[in-house]
Amino acid sequence: MALANGLPAPLTPDQFHPSDPQKARIGQLLFYDKILSGNRNISCGTCHHHDLAGADGLSLGIGEGGTGVGAKRTAGTGEDRIRKRIPRNAPALWNIGHKSIRNLFHDGRLSISDIYGNGYNSPAEEWLPQGLDTITAAQALFPLTAQFEMAGNPKENQIAGAVHDRIDAAWPIIAKRVRVIPEYAELFTNAFADVQTAQDIRITHIGNALGAFINSEWQSYQSPFDDFLNGGAALSAQAVAGMQLFYGKANCASCHSGPLFSDQNFHALSLPAFGPGRTRRFDPIARDVGRMGESDQLEDAYRFRTPSLRNVALTAPYGHNGAFRTLPQIIRHHADPLASKSSWTRDMAQLPDASWLEAIDFVIQSDSREMARQNASLDITPVALTTPEIAALEAFLHSLTDKNALTRPLGRPNKVPSGLPLD
Ligand code: HEC
Ligand code: HEC
Repeated sequence: MALANGLPAPLTPDQFHPSDPQKARIGQLLFYDKILSGNRNISCGTCHHHDLAGADGLSLGIGEGGTGVGAKRTAGTGEDRIRKRIPRNAPALWNIGHKSIRNLFHDGRLSISDIYGNGYNSPAEEWLPQGLDTITAAQALFPLTAQFEMAGNPKENQIAGAVHDRIDAAWPIIAKRVRVIPEYAELFTNAFADVQTAQDIRITHIGNALGAFINSEWQSYQSPFDDFLNGGAALSAQAVAGMQLFYGKANCASCHSGPLFSDQNFHALSLPAFGPGRTRRFDPIARDVGRMGESDQLEDAYRFRTPSLRNVALTAPYGHNGAFRTLPQIIRHHADPLASKSSWTRDMAQLPDASWLEAIDFVIQSDSREMARQNASLDITPVALTTPEIAALEAFLHSLTDKNALTRPLGRPNKVPSGLPLD
């Protein structure tokens, strides 16, 4: 095959961080246990659900205060209703346990680094505890302290109050919530050599259990494309045509490179902007400057990390803010971003109703100076793609869907030790 040099090496199980099965089992329970959230009303699984291939099916998620999962999730009512949408799309968690992963989040604000002596450069800086064994374990500590995701608002609960004080003040309170539940105490003492009694359970054990679960649960290397790379069954003629475009003329592999389909780098694609934005203390505009928010480099403005494309057919909507609901739409956007933006309409965003937030949802689009800045920030060279070529690329992306994507090793548990209801 002419493209052999461009094709990635096969992905194999030994390229992932090993996970201890007992720790992964604890992580599975914690992942769906609302005990970790300030108001005991949301879990990791609410936004990274097994039924939705590890995502939430929404453009912008609904954090604590909302109810339900996926397209049925609502923004809540009365005092408890959400005060803000989550500013970014919830990514699925495929293959982030791969040993080559260097950074996480759409802006890479968590990365492997020695700068603070704890192994990671993160928003918690030197307050992130030592002893988190993989980047996924470190990541798991952040949603717990995020006001609109899991922690809740100050005065509502002890965790939210502590976060308001300093990020690391909340973690011991969360660890205590877990260790006073006898079933968890037993599971942790059995699984962790340095946990003799419940008193020894720290937030790092919780992070390492969640990390062990995520790293082993969301591995994906059993798609038709993998079979093809390993010399097995052939792909359909249309998928092969798409593959040739992907690794050839359409240049997709220049960014979606290697077995993970990501260069783990940051590029500006100028997606249509909406939502509350990731506002910063000195930048209250409802916009998301992406990588620049982390690096403070002007050249990084509006850049986002290249997402992995594994199981992408199962994890719509697409982009850091979920601006597009279908693969042809996001492929067309890559091919000609400005034309795609001018034909984009608000109903293309999948946003659960929240009438009290409507004034904010699209306010950024009436800021003509900001829109001009975003339109001018583009790291992608438009390529002309015909409708059949887009269909071929779509067929190739479908060949990245794992045969076992929806039947994972552990799956969603039926109940959790806190006894709280599961999403
Ligand atoms: C309210 C929805 C919500 C909840 C609850 C939630 N997440 Fe997320 N998660 C997100 C969003 C949105 C992002 C992207 C944030 C960003 O990049 O700024 C994300 C990002 C991540 C990432 C990074 C993935 C990547 O490829 O960069 C991981 C890992 C993750 N979440 C795990 C968890 C775990 C573990 C929990 C529970 C402790 C959790 N999430 C709870 C919405 C949620
Ligand atoms: C210049 C680098 C670059 C090139 C070239 C590129 N992409 Fe992307 N792609 C990205 C980035 C960055 C994003 C995320 C953008 C954002 O969220 O703002 C993305 C997002 C996507 C998504 C959405 C994934 C998700 O989970 O949300 C798909 C699908 C995709 N690209 C497919 C393609 C295809 C097909 C091609 C070739 C026609 C291609 N890309 C070419 C960088 C690139």
